[in-house]
Amino acid sequence: MKIDRNSQLALHFPAPNEIPAEHRLSAPVHQRGFLIDGQIPAWNGPFKTVFSPVCTRDPSTGDVSQIEIGSYPLMSEVQSDAALDAAVAAYDSGRGKWPTMTVADRIACMHKFVNGMVERRQAIVNLIMWEIGKSLADSLKEFDRTVEYIQATIEALKDMDNGHSRFMVVEGTIGQVRRTPLGVVLCMGPYNYPLNETFCTLIPALLMGNTVVLKPPQYGTLLFEPLLEVFRDAFPPGVVNTIYAPGALVVPRMLATGKVNVLALIGSSRVADHLKKQHPKSHRLRAVLGLDAKNAAIVLPDADLDLAVKECLLGALSFNGQRCTALKMLIVHRSVVDTFLERFTAELARLKLGMPWEAGVQITPLPGPHRTAYMTEAIEDAKARGARVVNEGGGDFCSTLFYPAVVYPVREGMKLYREEQFGPVVPVMTFDAVEEALDYVITSDHGQQVSIFGSDAGQIGALVDPLVNQVCRVNINCQCQRGPDVFPFAGRKDSAEGTLSVSDALRAFSIRSMVAAKQTAPNRELLNTIVREHQSKFINTDFIL
Ligand code: G3H
Repeated sequence: MKIDRNSQLALHFPAPNEIPAEHRLSAPVHQRGFLIDGQIPAWNGPFKTVFSPVCTRDPSTGDVSQIEIGSYPLMSEVQSDAALDAAVAAYDSGRGKWPTMTVADRIACMHKFVNGMVERRQAIVNLIMWEIGKSLADSLKEFDRTVEYIQATIEALKDMDNGHSRFMVVEGTIGQVRRTPLGVVLCMGPYNYPLNETFCTLIPALLMGNTVVLKPPQYGTLLFEPLLEVFRDAFPPGVVNTIYAPGALVVPRMLATGKVNVLALIGSSRVADHLKKQHPKSHRLRAVLGLDAKNAAIVLPDADLDLAVKECLLGALSFNGQRCTALKMLIVHRSVVDTFLERFTAELARLKLGMPWEAGVQITPLPGPHRTAYMTEAIEDAKARGARVVNEGGGDFCSTLFYPAVVYPVREGMKLYREEQFGPVVPVMTFDAVEEALDYVITSDHGQQVSIFGSDAGQIGALVDPLVNQVCRVNINCQCQRGPDVFPFAGRKDSAEGTLSVSDALRAFSIRSMVAAKQTAPNRELLNTIVREHQSKFINTDFIL
């Protein structure tokens, strides 16, 4: 008898009473407030209903449906104009309380914020899990990593500022240089790391003295709700403002005002290109962008295949492949491809598929049926052009739950060859001469990272040299990844603009400005008096401990 694998998948979804009590949302989160100019007014307009990637199964009919977990305000242009104006007013052309505050005082505000955030850890982690279907273990990791990132950013800022707490005297000119804010930052993060990647731009932007309009991602909005009061209480009015509205409606409009000084977007290059063009004076807009990626793994004939399989599996399928750094193309030498595929599919079969709260779960539901539909479409396209799914059950799905598919051999002309699948489909192709693998990377529109698996020093060395000029990180015998966060995270071509390590992000959201004076006796006396009497926040030699 043929097993109906799709209804087997349905059994992974719980009946309503099977959701463990400790992991339920105590109640749906119906967000009724938003943060603007230091206030959280009640919203009386329309709402957007939020559905979880997690479905429940009706035990009598077997039907599955996504669980409604809450709602949030559905705003429009009036509110985005107001949010932007609040940020502009708080910046006040650089005269606002926040941009003129001492770095030490800004750090104190940020400590207050982190303390409030940590108190809400459980609520936020639970919302990450329910809103985007990330496993509980990874949701916890995302939260904790973000807190560590904030703390590391504070330390980096202290170092940076202390380094500037001195005068330089060059060619008869006394100078003091510090990093200063840029103005208003429009900050938009992605759904796959809604907290972490949003905060990787928001936090450095704030610490450098900018004011912010925050637009949460489409999936991953409610998790910011517990933080609204924390933002309000930690920062002066107007420093952080939130907007909940369709991006296409409000974001180009905000840019078209010319009032946004920095666009911080983790999203697609297509959207980024469109948005940048809206600014009336594009040279005034700084862009900090994390965009598309299609990182490849190149498996050389002498690679340790067990290691390559383990890393490629993690790289391709952690959080269902929904990482910008995920391995989205495996390029395996023809001489080892059969063994590689055999071991890879065997290891894949051991991955645990289930609900995000289950211990050890690795494959969880996707944001909506449109995502499983896209995965299916990409696989069908590859099949129609001569590839096949080589793992048992690969590509089966039930509503939002999709069993990972290994597709081989993938060739030019198939969607999977170039499109960023951002999900649990693993395209595999072969190469004979290493030039062919290199050529895939060179001809790609993406330029984030690559992984190489092999053991021959000569061959690895010879591959690294051209690859570092194509991408921004070459990983040897390990998957692609962003961390540790002190390392530069960047990309070429359509993959990024700007660099985001802990310290690079502080630079990205600031510009050096300086005070200079001729080295004369009256000027020396003047500057000394300013420092001694603390007459300026900029001209000072204080050391932040
Ligand atoms: O989605 C992109 C993330 O920044 C990747 O971070 O490599 O630590 O998963 P990760």
